[in-house]
Amino acid sequence: TLTASIAGFDFDNVLLNAAGVYCQTASELDQILEASGAGSLVTKSATPAERDGNAGIRFAEMPLGSINSMGLPNLGLDYYLDYTITHQDEKPLFLSIAGLTKADNLAMLRDVQASDFNGLVELNLSCPNVPGKPQTAYDFDTTREILTEVFSFYTKPLGVKLPPYFDIAHFDMIAEILNDFPLAFVNTINSIGNGLVVDPETDTVVIAPKGGFGGLGGEIVKPTALANVRALRQRLRPEIKIIGTGGVTNGRDVYDHILCGADLVSVGTSLYFEGPAIFERLNNELIAVMAEKGYNHLEEFRGQLQTL
Ligand code: DHB
Repeated sequence: TLTASIAGFDFDNVLLNAAGVYCQTASELDQILEASGAGSLVTKSATPAERDGNAGIRFAEMPLGSINSMGLPNLGLDYYLDYTITHQDEKPLFLSIAGLTKADNLAMLRDVQASDFNGLVELNLSCPNVPGKPQTAYDFDTTREILTEVFSFYTKPLGVKLPPYFDIAHFDMIAEILNDFPLAFVNTINSIGNGLVVDPETDTVVIAPKGGFGGLGGEIVKPTALANVRALRQRLRPEIKIIGTGGVTNGRDVYDHILCGADLVSVGTSLYFEGPAIFERLNNELIAVMAEKGYNHLEEFRGQLQTL
């Protein structure tokens, strides 16, 4: 069996979409909800009001992955709150929230707290769309401040979406903060921020917003994703579960995330290219890898990465 659980929620399956991919409209969300092999879904990160996002080409394929600067296009919190409340009896669902200010995040969480929503909130502390400010989770003091305010009133299950960290001292610093709060989970990683891809034919960038700078996803980010899953699993309290995100294109990638400590695994770039049928393929490939190793249950190898 491929079941997993977070904060008392049981998932029939470890796979879900990564926030941002295939989750902006009800029609996309329905396809993830109904996909064979998807254990849950997460909605596109919401702001209080609807947004169009950035103009021009804002997502492009690149060797070994993708680059994007979408600019937070979304249909507004109420839309995703309605969708998840309507479907929450079918599976445990994640509602992603990404306010551009602390006040927006707190206001949205007050709405969710007061609503009939009974799923999990993924508070996005790694949204790269706030001009003039670093991604929240790269600012450790602000991260502690916002979590302190959130948990002063928010009592439903909540986790955070993190950007990738690249320094051992930063793994220590973020874990020390996160361990001070009753988080249900962390999701790691968001895209690797502000890469730049050049089109050799035209000598131009490949996406229009921000002069071509954008978040990297896909195969190229897998080692960074695994490092973040592993480093956080080694540092966080065991009650804080981990959603591993980054570089999943086949069943072995899912296995590697779990081996490094992931409880659930989400799929972004390759879901974008392959569509929701990818979940069934990844599950079958994961089962095949496990069978080769003689494993029947995820618990037999979760977090069991060997070192030399
Ligand atoms: C967008 C990108 C992100 O990585 C994120 O966390 C939220 C929004 C975007 O560009 O839409």
